[in-house]
Amino acid sequence: MKTPIVIAIDGTSASGKSTNARLVARKLGFVYVDTGAMYRTLAWYCLQHGVDVQDPKAVAEACRRWKTTLECVEQDGLRAVRLLVNGYYPEREIRTAETSAAVPHVAAVPKVREWMKKTQRSCARFGPLVMEGRDIGSNVFPDTDYKFYLDASLAERTRRRNADGVQENLAARDQRDSQRSAAPLMVPLGAVVIDNSGETPEQTSARIIAEFERRRGARE
Ligand code: DC
Repeated sequence: MKTPIVIAIDGTSASGKSTNARLVARKLGFVYVDTGAMYRTLAWYCLQHGVDVQDPKAVAEACRRWKTTLECVEQDGLRAVRLLVNGYYPEREIRTAETSAAVPHVAAVPKVREWMKKTQRSCARFGPLVMEGRDIGSNVFPDTDYKFYLDASLAERTRRRNADGVQENLAARDQRDSQRSAAPLMVPLGAVVIDNSGETPEQTSARIIAEFERRRGARE
């Protein structure tokens, strides 16, 4: 099978992954995939169905039996993939503090990560992708030539989250995501590391696009 074009954007919480991935996808006409939203959707589903998120077996079982579909929708010039559960997209529910607290537990379950990897890889059927997450360059599409790792100072990331109206201990979540044994958060091999403290999203996304074009040109 031909390797699909995938721009993998990984990084710490509130490092600007979503904002930049969206800008890059919109500029290039690629399909945007938020993989964090998929983990959040499973966490929300578990909370809804009384599944103990601290019980890996129960979470794996929930992931085995939930009924999901992927769809690609266009909104304001951005094509994006959504994961639906029983035909429903829980857009607001997956952003609550309760879901945020539950999601690292769910994301640490190996069976869940297997399911997510398969589902995320299948998004290539929608076209060239900009996919953001924690393990995209290291685990989901390790063969892509276009890997980016975003980071910013903890103070700046905390400021960004607070500006979004969310109070969260980012350092604790990043530590849990980095220390889990299944596909931990890490800088993928061959990734361009971008510390975007003090940069605007326009500057950061322009850096990503310039490097993508340079690498793509070098391959042709
Ligand atoms: O990017 P986010 O905050 O929406 O991610 C939610 C959680 O999901 C985060 O704690 C890490 C986890 N996650 C992951 O383990 N792997 C991914 N590819 C994406 C997110």
